Amino acid sequence: MTDIAFHLNGTPVWLSDVAPTQTLLDWLRETRGLKGTKEGCNEGDCGACTVIVTDQNGPKALNACILFLPQLHGKAIRTVDGLTAPDGTPHPVQEAMVSHHGSQCGFCTPGFVMSMVAAHTTGRKDHDTALAGNLCRCTGYAPIIRAAKAAETAPVPDWLKAETDPAFFSAQISSGGKGAIAPAGGADSPPSPVCRPTTTDDLATWYAANPNATLIAGATDVGLWVTKQLRDLAPVAFLGGIAELKTIHDSGARLHVGAGVTINQLMEAVAPSLPSFAELLRRYASDQIRNAATIGGNIANGSPIGDGPPALIALGARLHLRRGADRRDMALEDFFLDYRKQDRLPGEFVEAVSFSHTAPALRCYKLSKRFDQDISAVCGCFNVTLENGSVQSARIAFGGMAGTPKRAAKAEAAMLGKPWSMETIIAARSAMQGDFTPLSDMRASAAYRTETAGNMLIRYFHDLSGLPVNVLEVTP
Ligand SMILES: Cc1cc2nc3c(=O)[nH]c(=O)nc-3n(C[C@H](O)[C@H](O)[C@H](O)COP(=O)(O)OP(=O)(O)OC[C@H]3O[C@@H](n4cnc5c(N)ncnc54)[C@H](O)[C@@H]3O)c2cc1C
Ligand code: FES
Ligand code: FES
Repeated sequence: MTDIAFHLNGTPVWLSDVAPTQTLLDWLRETRGLKGTKEGCNEGDCGACTVIVTDQNGPKALNACILFLPQLHGKAIRTVDGLTAPDGTPHPVQEAMVSHHGSQCGFCTPGFVMSMVAAHTTGRKDHDTALAGNLCRCTGYAPIIRAAKAAETAPVPDWLKAETDPAFFSAQISSGGKGAIAPAGGADSPPSPVCRPTTTDDLATWYAANPNATLIAGATDVGLWVTKQLRDLAPVAFLGGIAELKTIHDSGARLHVGAGVTINQLMEAVAPSLPSFAELLRRYASDQIRNAATIGGNIANGSPIGDGPPALIALGARLHLRRGADRRDMALEDFFLDYRKQDRLPGEFVEAVSFSHTAPALRCYKLSKRFDQDISAVCGCFNVTLENGSVQSARIAFGGMAGTPKRAAKAEAAMLGKPWSMETIIAARSAMQGDFTPLSDMRASAAYRTETAGNMLIRYFHDLSGLPVNVLEVTP
């Protein structure tokens, strides 16, 4: 149990003895009687539960169904129930949804409206991307997008502007909250079921003393362990309060990215130098998930179909781990030992990942059944350098082709020193058959995975030759 404080629809809330894995959605609906926020999938897929959460970095759309209450300490939450002005005037986005007929049965509407308000507040106009995490079964998306466009020029209402201003945030929320951060504990302390550290030192001490604890970063995986598997996770440590884990340091040659950096923050950081990686991350889940999910969680969960690791392995990333006072680092590919088995000691956590961001030949291709908001069937990332027309170095990594994210070592070897030609690519494609024995599952058959992974190599060749290979042109 833990104590927390936050703002809800403009009013301070203090809660004592909060169960660490109570979700915001359940609390809103069952404890506060705020039923405007809907439950659809309860696993981050549909956006019906979207709320706006503001912190020092501004307002963001998040899925309330996989947000645990302690993650909200010191933040401001806005739900659809609190979206009209004090005098009852609807938000401009709500007005636009009415006048453009953006709602039919209405079940998805609160979630859409909250995503649209988050985008409107920050001046975003990329409506397809901002709304990719909201599903509508009956209205169809065209009227909703029309409503979002129509609302673009309306000013942000004053009452909402105040709350989403970082100055307001610092003054009103951080200092006003009386929910004390629980002490991190130490080796000699009695085990504490909930740890909310603010430094990596505190986390290292507590985790070394509680090596069986569950670390919770964005909870986009862990949230489902609770909502779908009904697991009891205690003891738990929430990493969201550790500022050190959220930093990105650019040394010029390499980016050093803290484990707590979200996928959206990483996407922004790599966009100038590694646009293909940024484009891959844009197709990672939805805006709501990318606002919560961290790169540390994406690596640490060891999923064979995570999108971050193949790109990072192709970039030659190194993983930085810490256990108590001990630190070590390793090539990222060496971290993944077997299906869901990682080279991580009890009490050891991911502190950061670092990688070169000078890789003009990096290309990342994601194959999934849907373009947005879908997990990869195959994710292939390629980084080949040439010297005098021959392959000088090759790093090729795949997700979805083995029990772990994995390099295509045989394909790489078949290219090294060879001329950069279709003949070499075809030879590497054949060699790649020996690299992987993929599984058949609901996302793809083994044969389809093998075929498409090989085709990605050909696509890479054409891509570097300047031929158009972008599949985004299916968008009208
Ligand atoms: C709807 C939906 C869509 C998704 N789509 C995609 C997708 O397209 N591509 C993709 O790659 N993933 C996708 N995911 C999976 C998920 O978003 C990622 O794996 C995510 O990056 C996990 O990060 P997190 O911060 O939420 O981790 P959490 O859920 O908090 O934790 C995940 C695991 O990592 C551990 N952990 C977290 N931080 C650390 C740390 N610093 N050190 C050690 N262990 C740590 C936790 O204990 C846990 O075991 C999706 C998930 C959902 C719900
Ligand atoms: S209920 Fe579907 S995303 Fe939360
Ligand atoms: S209006 Fe019915 S699901 Fe969107």
